[in-house]
Amino acid sequence: MTPARWNHNIHYHRVVLDAAPARPARALDVGCGNGLLTAELAGIADEVVGLDTDPGTVGSAREEFPALRDAFVVGDLFDHPFAPASFDLVASVATLHHVDAARGLTRMAELLRPGGTLVVVGPARVERLPDLAHSLAAAACSRRAEPATPPPRTARSGTPPTSADPGRPCPG
Ligand SMILES: C[S@@+](CC[C@H](N)C(=O)[O-])C[C@H]1O[C@@H](n2cnc3c(N)ncnc32)[C@H](O)[C@@H]1O
Repeated sequence: MTPARWNHNIHYHRVVLDAAPARPARALDVGCGNGLLTAELAGIADEVVGLDTDPGTVGSAREEFPALRDAFVVGDLFDHPFAPASFDLVASVATLHHVDAARGLTRMAELLRPGGTLVVVGPARVERLPDLAHSLAAAACSRRAEPATPPPRTARSGTPPTSADPGRPCPG
C-alpha cells in the first residue's frame, strides 16, 4: 500500500517494514495514530493490531481502513490486556516520546515472543536551536529522498541502499 500523503512519520514506515520478519504471525503497531502503518503491516502479517489511546484517532483509522476495523483497538500500551509474549513483531513510530521511554520499551519487549522483532522509530529531542535546524533539514532531506513511485512495501524487500535511501545520508 502506498500512501498518497507524506509526513516524516510515514517516511519511516519503510524502515519498519524492512526490519520486520518476512511473515509475522501477529504484529502490533503501538500508537497507531491514523493507522497507515497498521495497514501496511496487515500486508505482511497474518494478524495485525493497531493500538492507540485516542478514540477519535482510532475512529478515523477505522473509517479509512474499514477492512481492518476490528484490528484497531482503543487502549493503553501499559494496561491493555494483551497476553505476554503474544506478538512476533512490535512496531512503534513517533510514540515512545509520549511515554516513559524505559517503561515503554520494557512493556513492548514483554509483548514479544522469544525471538520476536521490536522496531521503534522515535524523534530526536529538540532542545536547542541547532537541534531544530537539524530536525528541519532531516525532514527536507527525507522528503527529497522519497521516490516518486515508492518501491513495493514488503518486509525485506531486498531493495539495495541508494543515495536516496531514507535518513542515511541526511541528518536526523
Ligand atoms: C505522534 S502520534 C504517531 C502516530 C503514528 N504512529 C504515526 O507514525 O503517524 C503518537 C500516537 O501515540 C498515541 N499514544 C500515546 N501514548 C500511548 C500509549 N500509552 N498507548 C498507546 N498509544 C499511545 C497517541 O494517541 C498518538 O496517536
